[in-house]
Amino acid sequence: MANVVVVGAQWGDEGKGKIVDWLSERADVIARFQGGHNAGHTLVIGEKVFKLSLLPSGIVRKGKMAVIGNGVVLDPWSLFSEIAKLEAQGVEIGPENLMIAENTPLILPLHQDLDQLREAAAGTSKIGTTGRGIGPAYEDKVGRRTIRVADLADEETLDSRLDRLLAHHDALRQGLGATPIDRAELKAKLQDIAPRLLQYAQPVWKVMNDYRKAGKRILFEGAQGSLLDIDFGTYPYVTSSTTMSGMAATGTGMGPSAIGFVLGIVKAYTTRVGEGPFPTELEDADGQRLGERGHEFGTVTGRKRRCGWFDAVLVRQTCAISGVNGIALTKLDVMDGFKTIKICTGYEIDGVHYDHLPTAAALQSRVTPIYEEMDGWEESTQGARSWADLPANAIKYVRRIEELIQCPVALLSTSPERDDTILVTDPFAD
Ligand code: GDP
Ligand code: IMO
Ligand code: MG
Repeated sequence: MANVVVVGAQWGDEGKGKIVDWLSERADVIARFQGGHNAGHTLVIGEKVFKLSLLPSGIVRKGKMAVIGNGVVLDPWSLFSEIAKLEAQGVEIGPENLMIAENTPLILPLHQDLDQLREAAAGTSKIGTTGRGIGPAYEDKVGRRTIRVADLADEETLDSRLDRLLAHHDALRQGLGATPIDRAELKAKLQDIAPRLLQYAQPVWKVMNDYRKAGKRILFEGAQGSLLDIDFGTYPYVTSSTTMSGMAATGTGMGPSAIGFVLGIVKAYTTRVGEGPFPTELEDADGQRLGERGHEFGTVTGRKRRCGWFDAVLVRQTCAISGVNGIALTKLDVMDGFKTIKICTGYEIDGVHYDHLPTAAALQSRVTPIYEEMDGWEESTQGARSWADLPANAIKYVRRIEELIQCPVALLSTSPERDDTILVTDPFAD
């Protein structure tokens, strides 16, 4: 039985939440393995709309176990406000359906401060982060001075962790013109939230391996997208975690053999929030049309997303790096009504042809996309639930994408609604 990893194959917001929600009917366990509350995953189920940031999308279904793995960075205050919001929408959440890895690093208010102070100081060279403290929290993890969930259980440990952490942050803050951290206040805040958070703390690596032995189906829910990956993304305009599929294993404490099927989530066009290169970006009426029809405003920050044509070069590249077995192609309906549609099939830089995005930032900034043009379709695909409902030109578009990215479509999505999904290949099948 295959366990499935869902990863975004572009710059995030591909529709991972919708697809994870749809697939989670077939899963027993749904686990987040990287990122934090910089993510915004939208689920539309009939009249109800759920916007999730930190909680795995499977939490809305009864009888599923939601897991936050050690690869995540966790802001406990944000977690509890998200839980409260979902409870108000009728979702029941407790230790029986949510567990958090004991070795998960915490995001503290000082991380958010630092993220925002740095962005403000950077001026025009800012990254355009979500301002949630993600980067600074990961820095402290690899800098070996973070506070992890399990540290909250023992005052002596917490004291020594705080000493180490604040020595670093107070020096940084001084350089940025900010006041030192009020240690007593931070400690009190942490001690106040500790009992509630510790209820959920588990040796996730152990529980996950037991689940695997018991034959439970595990669905790993990636956040962000492959082009925001710390190593393979458009550095430095990236997030601070590994967003590729391999992270599902180390971000929960399982071996790579636990991963059976890698499902890349791919939008039928391209979007990006924040700064950084974007070869197929459109600043004309077509770009505006994509943004309007696709409601391209960020779930987390409300920022307008930049929009452009489908870039097959980038998706072929990210599918290779994540070992994608099949894609879920989302938002096909947004392409309805274009007379012609362009697909980027290669790049030209200073007269040289490239079949991939080169790493050097100087080259990335000089990319000219090479397009091929296809006829669009007049008919509506919105809400289509079978291939038979799709116009011939829409099918041609999907087939051409498969060909160019060298990866088959396993699922197709035609509206935000959970059930407006076409299944081609079941990722959970053996
Ligand atoms: P995620 O971060 O990858 O989970 O994606 P977001 O939730 O941030 O953004 C995707 C947006 O597109 C959400 O508002 C979804 O409800 C919506 N969406 C998902 N699939 C489709 C689709 O097939 N068609 C349309 N029109 N909207 C979709
Ligand atoms: P989901 O899971 C789209 C972008 C930010 C910024 C960069 C760094 O909803 O697809 P960070 O706060 O992570 O340090 O910001 O990454 N970013 C996302 N863009 N979708 C996301 O998540 C994102 N999470 C971070 O806009 O450019
Ligand atoms: Mg999103």
